[in-house]
Amino acid sequence: MSVADSSSNSRMPGFYRKSIQDRLSGLSETGLLSDDSISYLKDGGVLSTSVADLLSENVVSVQGLPLSVALNFTVNGIDRLIPMAVEEPSVVAAASFAAKMIRPSGGFCGEASASVMTAQIQLDGIDDPESAAKRIEEHRTSLLKVGDEAIPKMVARGGGCTDLEVRVLDLDLGLIVVHVYVDVGNAMGANMVDTVAEAVAPSIHELTGGQLGLRILSNLATRRLVNVTAKVTADEVGGKELLHAIYRASRFAELDPYRAVTHNKGIMNGIDAAAVALGQDWRAIEAGAHGYAAISGQIKPLAIWKLGEDECLHGKIELPMAVATVGGIKKVHPGVQAAFELLNISSAQELAVILGACGLASNLAALRALAGEGIQKGHMRLHGRKHANGNAQ
Ligand code: MEV
Repeated sequence: MSVADSSSNSRMPGFYRKSIQDRLSGLSETGLLSDDSISYLKDGGVLSTSVADLLSENVVSVQGLPLSVALNFTVNGIDRLIPMAVEEPSVVAAASFAAKMIRPSGGFCGEASASVMTAQIQLDGIDDPESAAKRIEEHRTSLLKVGDEAIPKMVARGGGCTDLEVRVLDLDLGLIVVHVYVDVGNAMGANMVDTVAEAVAPSIHELTGGQLGLRILSNLATRRLVNVTAKVTADEVGGKELLHAIYRASRFAELDPYRAVTHNKGIMNGIDAAAVALGQDWRAIEAGAHGYAAISGQIKPLAIWKLGEDECLHGKIELPMAVATVGGIKKVHPGVQAAFELLNISSAQELAVILGACGLASNLAALRALAGEGIQKGHMRLHGRKHANGNAQ
């Protein structure tokens, strides 16, 4: 039976105490991993230099990171083993701990919007920007058709250009920007969106005159958002006092940009770790997350926790999530393939929700530690392992 069919398998009690070999055997027993993945992981998960050479330039070797599994996650009613690749000692333990606290209240619930990315086309030196903007809007249907013609395979799969928007950014410079929104399905979509931007730009330029500027996606993917919620009881969190202290810690992040940035860094600990294991463009996820956090003009927390009338803490996270289950390095990187097998998902939306859950879990664990015993105690316990091996600074 696979973890995805089960309601309890992501628990795996005592996993952290086992040898690496026994942990791998435990994972093999889930039936999720292919034989190739099991042997790759057993052999130490080292990417061959020939594959590395395909992925980047001036390659001289490969750089390893620990590959771990975050446990206890139930997301939309399904247990998930979440692969995480990260060097910071407490990230995996913290996410697993928070998921365990949230689990008795039903786990994480979430949804992701359609995978709509934004192509930006800049035009400047336009004589009358406002009437140029009107002309573009009048030609919306034909412009979207030009965009669709540039990505026929995506259109055949049900995606394609969905909408168009024009904004005048500077009347004196005659600078306008056109957004073309593109549903990229299960892809991250950067190449597709850049293709659309370049394809549509000449037709827009014909309508506006002036000079054609940049044609590129925006990483502030405000039409590709994920929302995840979770609830935790006072008992699970360690008492009413701690519950209230976590709420106050969350308020602190809402009120102060200095705290919000660190609060968001903690959220990205879990999201990035899973994104790296799954071969995602984590720089794009980071850029989108921090841009979205600052969209109001002041940086805000991506996740907040509120006290409910049921005396529980209710958490929610919202951020752009441009992730893919197809394309990228998945085809050639055996470690990324193994990570996908473990996660056992079939759409970019499912992946987005799981990453949102990782962010919310990391945030709860960080706030609980900070509002309780302080971060250093747990951190230093885990750092101690590195010291013991003579590797610490
Ligand atoms: C450390 O990697 C992350 C934290 O600073 C996050 C936070 O302060 O919320 C603990």
